[in-house]
Amino acid sequence: MQIISAIADLRAALKGRGRVVFVPTMGNLHAGHISLMQQARAHGDTVVASIFVNRLQFGPNDDFDKYPRTFQDDCDKLAAAGVDVLFAPTEADLYPEPQEYVVEPPAIQHQLDGEFRPGHFRGVATVVLKLFNIVQPQAAVFGKKDYQQLMVLRNMTRQLALPINIIGGETIRADDGLALSSRNGYLSASERAEAPRLYLELTRIRDAIRNGETDIAGLENAAVAALTAAGWKTDYVAVRQQADLGDAIDANAPLVVLAASRLGTTRLIDNIEI
Ligand code: PAF
Repeated sequence: MQIISAIADLRAALKGRGRVVFVPTMGNLHAGHISLMQQARAHGDTVVASIFVNRLQFGPNDDFDKYPRTFQDDCDKLAAAGVDVLFAPTEADLYPEPQEYVVEPPAIQHQLDGEFRPGHFRGVATVVLKLFNIVQPQAAVFGKKDYQQLMVLRNMTRQLALPINIIGGETIRADDGLALSSRNGYLSASERAEAPRLYLELTRIRDAIRNGETDIAGLENAAVAALTAAGWKTDYVAVRQQADLGDAIDANAPLVVLAASRLGTTRLIDNIEI
């Protein structure tokens, strides 16, 4: 695996490489990321991963400084997964001057996670467009765990006519149902034991809707109450349309239930499609 940090070097290394599939990450890789790498391998000739903890998508009270950085371990995992090229720019490589031109996503950026993380999706869309311009992949893979991110990036790619196929990768879960996430590492042992409740509440909502329940607000409120009773502080539990994450629920259209909640100081997100 080639490890490259300068934009010019990456462009030179990717010349004539055939179909490039790109998997951007912020590092601290787990089995969920590795499954995205494997999916990428099935879609092209050259798999390029990136590791860059993108300051632009973190708010002032977010965990940018403490975000886990495990570069050597990540390199070993990517090499073992058969990744061809790792792009690991420094901040000076990617943002040599203040990033004043940005991608401003539409209203969805202020809803769900965006309501609680102002500017987050602007930062994500901006860095991903920049990475796309650097790597120029034919396809890119993003995990469904960040469902709203995947939708924002899919829509950005379509509306800006980027010639890139966006592929969604399934969420990988621990045996007890907890979605794998770099932020799980922040959990204490007792919090880790409690953490699968988030997924459990999502499955309860899914099963109730499958069984014909139509009181969506009642289901959302019951899940928030169950989480609160177990010590969580919930930002949202929301049933939305898969297509646009809108809240005009058509029971015949594909739905998704999404949640963000905090256990101690750790904010976890999860979702399941219905
Ligand atoms: O999902 C992530 O890890 C990040 O949001 C991404 C897509 C790498 C952009 O920084």
